[in-house]
Amino acid sequence: MGGMRFDVFTLFPETLRPYLEVSILKKAAERGLIEIALHNIRDWARDKHHTTDDLPYGGGGGMVMKPEPVFEAVESVLGSPPSCPVILLTPQGRVFTQRVAQELAQHEHLALLCGRYEGIDERVRRHLVTDEISIGDYVLTGGELPALVVIDAVSRLLPGVLGDPDGAYDDSHASGLLEYPHYTRPPEFRGWRVPEVLLSGNHAEIARWRREQSLLRTLERRPDLLKSAPLTEADLAFLRNAARERGLTLPPLPEPSHEEQHDE
Ligand code: ADE
Repeated sequence: MGGMRFDVFTLFPETLRPYLEVSILKKAAERGLIEIALHNIRDWARDKHHTTDDLPYGGGGGMVMKPEPVFEAVESVLGSPPSCPVILLTPQGRVFTQRVAQELAQHEHLALLCGRYEGIDERVRRHLVTDEISIGDYVLTGGELPALVVIDAVSRLLPGVLGDPDGAYDDSHASGLLEYPHYTRPPEFRGWRVPEVLLSGNHAEIARWRREQSLLRTLERRPDLLKSAPLTEADLAFLRNAARERGLTLPPLPEPSHEEQHDE
């Protein structure tokens, strides 16, 4: 069994390569856990100048990516119809979240299509693309950084990609909460001490402190996330008290979850 495969279609493949060739993604590729192929759409342009864009019908500014090289690139690599989802990176797509990353990680093969210029011919969107993703409500110059964001967030969820066997479990957002603060040596730096509980060796106390820090951080920075996080009765009691002490208002919270907490 090979790893997960990504085929990326772009006019600037060289912009992605350096990021893929270091650290965790590089090791994942070396171990065969992921395989990433970069395809230059320009290689499928048939005219002498290898044209990939043209003026918009109806006038107006900017250039539009032509349909033919995009269809030919994707179909020559993936067949017709393509053998896997074809995801267009665009600010008009559904917003990328940890949940979407988890959903995409279920596939063994994805194609990522990076737009450039002012846009891409609508027939690509209508007749080739099967999904559209935005990495957030801001506009970039192209889909290359968003494609890297998707590859990175999906790859680190695959078994074996992170060294730690519990991998991505404790992450901000995986639990629906922001992550607790981290400390390493030295125990005192410029007079700032590591919280005593972390030095105590009491694992139950440490787990409780971390959970409470996650809840507090989420309450202070992203109270909207509390609405969909699985919270226990103890979490809810802690939050109500913390909110009252700080004069903060809690959003409407769900019923307590009776699922096991993972951290003890
Ligand atoms: N292309 C340009 N901006 C983008 C964004 N925010 N998300 C995905 N693709 C994009």
